[in-house]
Amino acid sequence: MALTGLDQFLKDDQILTGDADIKNYGRDWTKFFTPNAQAIVFPKSTEEVLELVKWARTTKTALVPSGGRTGLSGGAVAIQREVVVSFEKMNKILSYSDEDRIARVQAGVVTEDLQNFAFEKGQYFPVDFAAKGSSHIGGNIATNAGGVKVIRYGLMRDWVSSMTVVTGRGEVMELNNDLIKNASGYDLRHLMIGSEGTLGLVTEASIKFTRKPNDPLLFLVALNHLDNTMDVFKAFRDQTNLLAFEIYDELALQYVLKAQSNLSRPLETVAPFYLLIEVESEGDNSEEKVLSVFESCLEKEWLTDGILSQSDQQSKDLWAIRENITEACAHRTPYKNDVSVKISQVTPFLKDLDIVLKKEYPSSEVVWFGHVGDGNLHISILRPETMTPEEFYKSSQSIDDVVFSKVKEYGGSVSAEHGVGIIKKKHLNYTRSEAEISAMKAIKAFFDPDQILNPGKIFD
Ligand code: MLT
Ligand code: ZN
Repeated sequence: MALTGLDQFLKDDQILTGDADIKNYGRDWTKFFTPNAQAIVFPKSTEEVLELVKWARTTKTALVPSGGRTGLSGGAVAIQREVVVSFEKMNKILSYSDEDRIARVQAGVVTEDLQNFAFEKGQYFPVDFAAKGSSHIGGNIATNAGGVKVIRYGLMRDWVSSMTVVTGRGEVMELNNDLIKNASGYDLRHLMIGSEGTLGLVTEASIKFTRKPNDPLLFLVALNHLDNTMDVFKAFRDQTNLLAFEIYDELALQYVLKAQSNLSRPLETVAPFYLLIEVESEGDNSEEKVLSVFESCLEKEWLTDGILSQSDQQSKDLWAIRENITEACAHRTPYKNDVSVKISQVTPFLKDLDIVLKKEYPSSEVVWFGHVGDGNLHISILRPETMTPEEFYKSSQSIDDVVFSKVKEYGGSVSAEHGVGIIKKKHLNYTRSEAEISAMKAIKAFFDPDQILNPGKIFD
C-alpha cells in the first residue's frame, strides 16, 4: 500500500484517510478543484517532518503542506493523490525574548493567536488580514502574506527573523539565526519566503514584534471618481502617518450588507467607491490635523462625504465591512484577481481596466476592493448563478488574458499577495521573464530533486 512505512514514525492518530478529511484538508478557499489526496498526516516536530520528507523521497510521494487553508490561488489544494502535511499539531509558541523582541513559533500557530500573544507582551505583530483567525504563520511565510497594514509595516517577509526548514533534499536548514545583520552570502530565508512550499517545509520561525501604534483614527470616505483615489492617497500619505488605505466599491458594500444584518450602511451618501483610511494618532492636536487633510480633500471635490469613527465599536464595524467582502461574495464563487502595479500606475491602470472589463464583460458583476495604497487590487468577477463553479472557472480563463495583458502593459504583477498556486501559473510569464522562470525552475530542481514538494504549484 502506498502509505506503507509512515507508521514507522507517525502514530495512528497522526494519519487520516477518511473521505470527509480528504475533502476538508485537500482544499483551500479556492472552490474550483475537487480534493483527491490519499491521506493527511499531522507531524508534531521538525524531526517527524524530516522523516516524512525522507519517506516521500523513497516512495516518490508528493507532499502538499497545509496551514489554515485560507489561500486563494490553490497553493494548498491536493488533487493528484498527494499526502497533505497539516501543521495543525505544531501550534506552539515556543519562547519569547523581550530583549530581541522575537517570538519563536511552530509553523501551525494561528496568526491571530500570535497577534494576541504580542499584545500580552506589550508588543505588536502587524501582519493582519481578514483570514487571521484561521491562517497559520507557516502559510503566511509560504505565501509572503500581505494584508491591510502593509502600507506601514510591510509584508510577512519583513517580520521573519529566522526559520527552520526541511528541504526537499531531506536536509534541515536553520536560516539566519535571528541576526539583524548577516552579509554572509545568499539569504536563503528570503528564498523560502513566498516559495509556496515548493522548496522546503517551514517547521519553525522566529517572528519579530514592534511597538504598538498609538490609537488609530479611522475614516470612511466616499469617492465619486476612481481618478481621485491616488490624490486622496497622496494627501494622507504626505501629511499623516498612514496605517491602512483600502478601497471597496458600492457593489462590495451591498454584498456585505446583505450577508451581515448587524452592519449598516456607513454613510448616507451612496458613492461608486469608498476608502477606509487609518492613521496613527500623534500627540494632542492629531485629530485636528488629520481632519484638516480630510477637509482639504472635500474642498477639492476629491471626496463627497466621509466620517471619522467616534468609538471602538464604530471602528470595528467599519473594518468589518471591509474584512467581510470575501465571505459575503463567496457563494458566487468569484474569479479572483490579486494584481499589483506601482503607485504611479494605479490611476491609469484602474481606469483602463474598468473600461476594458465593461466592454468585454458588460453583463458580469465585478466587485472591486483591495489595498490600493500598496498598488494592490482584488478584482472579483462573480459567477453568474446559471453556471457551475467548474464551468465558470473554465470560462474565466479568457478574463485572465484581458486582465493580465493590462497588468503587463502597466508593469505590474499577476499576483500581489495571494501567490501563484495553480490558478495563476499559466500566466506567470505575463509578468516574470523566461530567464527568471528558468532560474526558479533550476532552484526548484536543486532543493526538490524528486519533485515531491507541492508539485504543479507556481509552474509545472
Ligand atoms: C482581502 O484583501 O480581503 C484578502 O486578500 C482576501 C481576498 O482577496 O478575497
Ligand atoms: Zn488582500
